[in-house]
Amino acid sequence: GAAAAATAAPDKAAAPASAGFMEEGIPAAGESEPFIKLGGLSDHVEGILRCRRIVFIACGTSYHACLVARKTLEEFAAMPVVVELAGDFMDREAPVFRDDTCVFVSQSGETADTLRALEYAKAKGALCVGITNTVGSAISNATHCGVHLNAGFEIGVASTKAYTSQIVALTMMALLLGADSRAKMPKRIAAMRALARLPDDAREVLELDASMHKLAEQLKDAQSLIFFGRGYNFSTALEAALKVKEVALIHSEGINAGEMKHGPLALVDENLPIVVIATQDAMHRKMESVIQQLLARSAKLVILCNTGDDAMTQFEGRGCTLIRVPRTVDALQPIINIIPLQLLSYHLTTLRGFNVDQPRNLAKSVTVT
Ligand code: G6P
Repeated sequence: GAAAAATAAPDKAAAPASAGFMEEGIPAAGESEPFIKLGGLSDHVEGILRCRRIVFIACGTSYHACLVARKTLEEFAAMPVVVELAGDFMDREAPVFRDDTCVFVSQSGETADTLRALEYAKAKGALCVGITNTVGSAISNATHCGVHLNAGFEIGVASTKAYTSQIVALTMMALLLGADSRAKMPKRIAAMRALARLPDDAREVLELDASMHKLAEQLKDAQSLIFFGRGYNFSTALEAALKVKEVALIHSEGINAGEMKHGPLALVDENLPIVVIATQDAMHRKMESVIQQLLARSAKLVILCNTGDDAMTQFEGRGCTLIRVPRTVDALQPIINIIPLQLLSYHLTTLRGFNVDQPRNLAKSVTVT
């Protein structure tokens, strides 16, 4: 089963498996070289590196974490990756090969569609990896190896801390698998150091709570709310929209900004609120152009951007609301970016008088297919 917890340990001294790994595990700049240790995967790294492709399989929010991981694995380990919704994967009875590595990502470890896909992939002879937050869960027991998130019991039906922890664990997996690439080494070290700073960045971004409450007051009667993102933050757009629809009960869509001209642009007018995720990653230029195009159609924009990004200041004068978040490496920016949007969904929900922990019609764990 999914054996040890995620641990990033300083040099050769093996740190205990701990959820506090980011603070205690990676040394600060100038100290000994950081490295990644994932105890539950250590016997399988060679096997995973030899595989034909990595297939991520999940549902809901966990699926969105996999979309981030696809790009991280492509970027750091140059591996071919596909991402599948567990239900759709089984509806298609998609081909699985003996030399595939299938990664099952599930907070509860009990989601029926994901579990069914796991049994199917296992029967085809694939190496099955589990990333779960529940020790002893069906998925954690049935996989060959894996990682326990140790994010703590998640109470609310809508997954939040499991999502950010899944991205952390999957990023660590990508960094582990990419360890042999000399060319990627500086980028890898920067990402490991950014992982160590992540708790501080998260603390800083939580200070946006009052501004998110204010923004929620402005948006609480909206009929619909659109999120635009691309690259690493396509997932942020999808996940923010899922949160808004599942807890605040407002129609919401997350759209890949690269698809804007293929339909979504027709919706844009001065009434539809749009959140544009435009932090300073590789997509920054393209997102700036998206903002200009939306403003040319009189769009009402909220722009999520980095602290100190002067290029964005001009948009304040053009009626846009700016949300400023700290900058981290591209691969980790979705973790920081989703936090104010989770807060926004939270405040939209309470202002609209709904229960944020138990949205109507939904269950924490979907154990029927
Ligand atoms: C339910 C929950 C979601 C969750 C999804 C997948 O729909 O409400 O928050 O993302 O199941 O659950 P899992 O436990 O497999 O991550």
